Amino acid sequence: MIGPNKIKTAIFISGSGTNLKSLYKFSLTKKSPIKIGLVISNNKDAKGLLFSKKKKIISKVFNFKRKIIVEHKILKELKKRKIRLICLAGFMKILSKNFIKKFKGKIINIHPSLLPKYKGLNTHQRAINNSEKFSGCTIHLVNHKLDSGKIILQKRIKIHKQDTSKSLAKRILKEEHKLYPKAVIKLYC
Ligand code: GRF
Repeated sequence: MIGPNKIKTAIFISGSGTNLKSLYKFSLTKKSPIKIGLVISNNKDAKGLLFSKKKKIISKVFNFKRKIIVEHKILKELKKRKIRLICLAGFMKILSKNFIKKFKGKIINIHPSLLPKYKGLNTHQRAINNSEKFSGCTIHLVNHKLDSGKIILQKRIKIHKQDTSKSLAKRILKEEHKLYPKAVIKLYC
């Protein structure tokens, strides 16, 4: 039974949606303070949409080519569904300062590095190229600067000598799936 007073949450995705899956599973548990009321994607082919449709989660695709107009539409949708938390999960678009200001709830993101190191893309290859001993993943509040909001939780993992960006990404993704629910609990409980 999903409690009536759980925090209605929207998950923003662009791709495979493995973090969406783990957040959805978590949202069905008793200790979850959230329930997922909406999935938004900028990519109509995102595999995560197959999952959200299978679970009958309301899912909307928006074309981010006209960012100002689309952000306005999304804000209307979020308001209509009383969304109070946005979880960016593999979402590859940058939300504007105006959107972040207008959305009265919290926006959090998962980034596959130990922020503030390795903001942006290709984090695993960059960490390997720099012979880093550790990498990991970070959940942070979203502000108008890329990957720069207040850190909520991080998980550090060792980079192995023989790691490629593929093998490292795979190991970190597993940690992401555990970290995201923990960060939601930390935020609300
Ligand atoms: C993950 O590595 C996540 O850290 C990054 O996007 C990748 C794919 O995430 N933001 P998902 O499988 O779509 O949740």
